[in-house]
Amino acid sequence: MTHGLCCAIFRPIVNFDIVKMPRSTFAPTDSFLYRLAGASALLGVSSNTMRAYADNAGVHIKRAADFKPGAPQVRVFDPSQIFQIAAWRRAQGYTKFPAHRPTVITVDVIKGGTGKTTTSVELAVNLQLSGIRTLLVDLDIQANATQMLGYEPDLTMEEAESYDLLPEAIVENTFASILLPYILSKSGARQGATNPPAELIIKKPFGEAGPHLIPSDPYLSDAETALAKASGQRELYIRRILEGNYGFNASDYDAIIFDCPPSVSFLSSAAIAAADIVIAPIRMDLFSIKGLSRLMGEINTLESEYRLKPELIILPTHYAPQFSRISRMQQTLTAYRDLMAPCVISASEQFPKSLDQYLPLTLQVPTSQASKEYKVFAEFIQNRIIARTGNKK
Ligand SMILES: Nc1ncnc2c1ncn2[C@@H]1O[C@H](COP(=O)(O)OP(=O)(O)OP(=O)(O)O)[C@@H](O)[C@H]1O
Ligand SMILES: [Mg+2]
Repeated sequence: MTHGLCCAIFRPIVNFDIVKMPRSTFAPTDSFLYRLAGASALLGVSSNTMRAYADNAGVHIKRAADFKPGAPQVRVFDPSQIFQIAAWRRAQGYTKFPAHRPTVITVDVIKGGTGKTTTSVELAVNLQLSGIRTLLVDLDIQANATQMLGYEPDLTMEEAESYDLLPEAIVENTFASILLPYILSKSGARQGATNPPAELIIKKPFGEAGPHLIPSDPYLSDAETALAKASGQRELYIRRILEGNYGFNASDYDAIIFDCPPSVSFLSSAAIAAADIVIAPIRMDLFSIKGLSRLMGEINTLESEYRLKPELIILPTHYAPQFSRISRMQQTLTAYRDLMAPCVISASEQFPKSLDQYLPLTLQVPTSQASKEYKVFAEFIQNRIIARTGNKK
């Protein structure tokens, strides 16, 4: 609640550098402006290609002088325009996208603070930028992914009004709005088994063409409690929801990413059982590796009970090769070498600093080393998605 209050006093100001300004919770992002270099980095193309996209995509790109008289006539792009250009690029067939949908990606490891949420959010942004339509589902009542995308899980609509926040900033529905009616219907109850419509559940922080989000708030714990009490094959409930059409149509998306809480939970187990790919971000320390073996134990149980075997990908985060403990950990990890991502995410203070802005680091500083590393990882995941499902270029 406090951060909603303290953030609400900020108002974005126009700045023609790559994004460097305070953002209030769910302030519109159209005053975050990128010049050509930032826009090209986001789409991973040269400046000349970016200019050609801007001329042909049918998106009205403003000039710096439109915002500030006397400023140079250079093009400036806001985040939603970048996502619109990415969608146009996909529609032109310039990028690879999967033949079958969706690929379900669950980000989980049974250890706190390893970079699960950072990885989920940065991956969602980067996949969407490369033309993969992505839905991120926040399955953690801490609601960190929800906040990283600018939403306020702790305020009611009335409180938002008194802080002068936009009503869109408030979370009114979570994945519980889909799961609870499903659980009720499985228990044979006839009443109360309807979902709110998808447009009330799904948030679109950068407009239709950006990544979509099913946010979280403290009431998501109702879903955890209901799953705990449910009987039957409750591990398979999320899988069944994605196969059916409950609250949203999963096949609208190429990728659905579940950001899991750090503890063992029924929601996480059901998200793992729904997954084609499980990403385990780990810090290079002993407790992360223990958390990883517990996750692997959980995946093995699912395999023996339901014959489900998601692909596990281990991503080292907070990576700092200068520490000797890290080279020792690398030796331990050789046992898992077939599961390691071909890249790492370095330790960078830019990640915790970026949280103040309620905007993923990739969108704040697209040219930073840290952003580039998540882009490389997202390309690897995009290729895994295409390898699983075939290419529809
Ligand atoms: N590569 C990195 N280098 C430095 N700090 C990082 C890195 N990745 C994430 N962080 C920071 O570490 C903290 C925890 O990250 P994050 O919330 O992504 O972890 P998590 O695994 O989701 O945590 P939790 O288990 O509580 O859900 C955040 O402050 C984040 O900004
Ligand atoms: Mg988290």
